[in-house]
Amino acid sequence: MKFFITYQLSPTSFNAMLATIQSAALNGLNAFPVTIEVNSHEASEGGARFTIVGLPDSAVKESSERVQAAIRENGFQYQMRSTVVNLSPADMRKEGSGFDLPIAIAFLLSLGHVHADQIDLQRYMFVGELGLGGQVLPVRGALPIAIKARELKYEALIVPEENAREAAVVNNLKVYGVKHLQDVIGLLQGSSALLPTVVNTREEFYAAQQDFPYDFSEVKGQENVKRAFEVAAAGGHNIILIGSPGCGKSMMAKRLPSILPPLSLQESLETTQIHSIAGQLNRDSTLISQRPFRTPHHTVSDVGLAGGTRQARPGEVSLAHNGVLFLDELTEFNRAALEILRQPLEDRKITITRAQYSVEYPCSFMLVASMNPCPCGYYGDPLHKCVCTPGQISRYLSKISGPLLDRIDIHIEMQAVPFSELSQMQPGEPSATIRERVVAARKIQEERFKPFKGIHCNAQMSERMIHQYAELDSSSMDMLRMAMERLSLSARAYSRILKVARTIADLEHCEKVQSSHIAEAIGYRNLDRGDWAERGI
Ligand SMILES: Nc1ncnc2c1ncn2[C@@H]1O[C@H](COP(=O)(O)OP(=O)(O)O)[C@@H](O)[C@H]1O
Ligand SMILES: [Mg+2]
Ligand SMILES: [Zn+2]
Repeated sequence: MKFFITYQLSPTSFNAMLATIQSAALNGLNAFPVTIEVNSHEASEGGARFTIVGLPDSAVKESSERVQAAIRENGFQYQMRSTVVNLSPADMRKEGSGFDLPIAIAFLLSLGHVHADQIDLQRYMFVGELGLGGQVLPVRGALPIAIKARELKYEALIVPEENAREAAVVNNLKVYGVKHLQDVIGLLQGSSALLPTVVNTREEFYAAQQDFPYDFSEVKGQENVKRAFEVAAAGGHNIILIGSPGCGKSMMAKRLPSILPPLSLQESLETTQIHSIAGQLNRDSTLISQRPFRTPHHTVSDVGLAGGTRQARPGEVSLAHNGVLFLDELTEFNRAALEILRQPLEDRKITITRAQYSVEYPCSFMLVASMNPCPCGYYGDPLHKCVCTPGQISRYLSKISGPLLDRIDIHIEMQAVPFSELSQMQPGEPSATIRERVVAARKIQEERFKPFKGIHCNAQMSERMIHQYAELDSSSMDMLRMAMERLSLSARAYSRILKVARTIADLEHCEKVQSSHIAEAIGYRNLDRGDWAERGI
């Protein structure tokens, strides 16, 4: 058996000891290794101290209280010692409470209370928060930490039990989920029968991929709206629904994930890491297998939407990465919040800069928005009378900013299916069938955009690509020009129409965009029409 000395006795005195333990911290989406050194020596009367150095944030500083309490509670003596905890590298900011456990272990080693004779300690990485009694509490970012541990060829990762499954997604790394400081001591001393957590990542991922909570077959009628969703899903286009209360806007939006192409393992890994860092995974979670569908309330704070706080947490835009961000009742959101969406929609990543840090998170999502056509909700409704004045309507519509609307390719106005008809109608086409067509259209796009890094679907085309891939023959061009004049479409509509027409052509497996595709795409520009402009949009 190998024998490793991981704590050193000073050559001159018996009372100063140094112990080293490996841990990790987060920087954006990535983890980086942190070495924790604890040096404790006998102190004179009144000289006992416990100090943490190496650019810790305030949560890490609080660690000293928790660690000392946990150690006391578990019956270990450490009175009359002066202890210095050094976190390195010293120039990287370290946040969170995940250093409690490794600090406690290093402290116990330095005191000589615990021995790690049974394992290759420097190939073990530790993270975990400690409760005052020594219980190990969950941390954020266990998955990116596991990925880093694997990359650096660690043999094992010790994590809080609640984080064990998300960390065990990573292959070729032993992940031990622990509930209590005593579990870890047992593991180090070889007196515990703790087994590594094993997850069959791929099997679980694919098994949960098809099982959607909502299906388009439950939506009766509304064929044109479903079609708009199919086109949106096929090209990755942002979409806004306008209609009176109860007409089914939220019902439709919730069903979008069921017709999007399935998440790839790579996409899932990115999305799951973001959720791991945000502390949004529960103890049963492994890889997220369906595209996220995020529905922030309209009272969401800027930080909630974009990310940030004292610690660098991802916001809603990043939690929606590779999925859908649904802004229900768009006009209720405050303008500042909507302005925040501009950079993410454009760049598909967001940079969060605070005095203490700057991090970047990916946020490639499809935006779905819904709104009523006017404050009372019934403008244009055949069954209810709108009671709003033109002034009220125009003030209401002016709340949605032009730049945001500029990034929404598909506008669709809906009307409720009358209640009397609903009960008579047959179930609609199932999501799985729609999804097959979407997937086929996406395949064509993947092929088309192979030469372009970071471009996957028609919605992401630049002006130049639109020119190249959505070229019109002269009769289609004439039709588009005429329609733009007749409907008083604004100039911003032009390239949106071409992009969406390209997607419609892809759904029909047509190499060239034809006039029928253009005609349908024009129909998705409701908010650019002159009548909406008169109302104030
Ligand atoms: N076309 C439809 N088919 C089936 N149910 C519908 C349809 N339209 C509306 N409903 C029912 O009405 C409810 C209210 O719709 P909802 O999506 O909340 O409306 P909105 O978001 O536009 O206010 C839905 O949950 C659903 O039960
Ligand atoms: Mg709704
Ligand atoms: Zn009204």
